[in-house]
Amino acid sequence: MRVSLCLMAIACFIAGACAGKLPSFIKPCAASDPNLDQCIASVITGAGPKFAQGIPELGIKPLDPADLGKVVVKNPALNVIFEDTVVTGLAGFRLNNFKINVEKGKVLLDFTANVTLKAHYEMDGQVLILPIKGSGQTKIKITNLNIVIRYTYKTVDGYWTITDHKDTYKMDNAHFKFTNLFGGNKELADTTIKFLNENSLIIMQEIAPPAIDQIISSCVLEVRKLFKEIPAEELLAQ
Ligand SMILES: *[C@@H]1O[C@H](CO)[C@@H](O)[C@H](O)[C@H]1NC(C)=O
Repeated sequence: MRVSLCLMAIACFIAGACAGKLPSFIKPCAASDPNLDQCIASVITGAGPKFAQGIPELGIKPLDPADLGKVVVKNPALNVIFEDTVVTGLAGFRLNNFKINVEKGKVLLDFTANVTLKAHYEMDGQVLILPIKGSGQTKIKITNLNIVIRYTYKTVDGYWTITDHKDTYKMDNAHFKFTNLFGGNKELADTTIKFLNENSLIIMQEIAPPAIDQIISSCVLEVRKLFKEIPAEELLAQ
């Protein structure tokens, strides 16, 4: 035991990096800070865009672009499969609100971003009253996607663990592009896409939830990894 500790100390000395794994772009706040919410909010605003690029040393994957892979939308009237789904824009988020209750281990994170989802799609069924069918590329632009995440955490062996999370979201607008709707029948496709865009918020209620759930899960997953790699004391100085 003593030998291995000694070796570790030497290795640390040589590498000069054992003091902590916290990336230098994250400047921790002090738990005693009377304006802790504000302090952490400015850390998130400052470090968020960098965090969203991913931190390979810590195994944290990029959130912008976020690779969602396959997203399946199953409604009674409509089946949609998105493949190679990529979401961009999260790094440009705006933080609306951040609250932490250290005693209770509760956090509220409220942010807005303009995001674009690109994917290969396959769609068959009905939206509202309109039959729809096609397979091709899609691009969905969401204006002001507002996500509110509430999570609880506890400290286990010196590391934060997210024990539960709940989220809600809303958006201001969505704009769709689909190539090759109706096997390339341009007139029918143009009319349908116009209809989709005129009713985009209603249509997003039908098709967006699985994709947005996956966006939120990805965010939570990468934050979990950060908490797993960096001791709580380094994230919030005591
Ligand atoms: C999203 O884009 C709109 C303009 O299209 C802009 O008014 C808004 O501030 C943007 N939102 C964010 C979070 O950047």
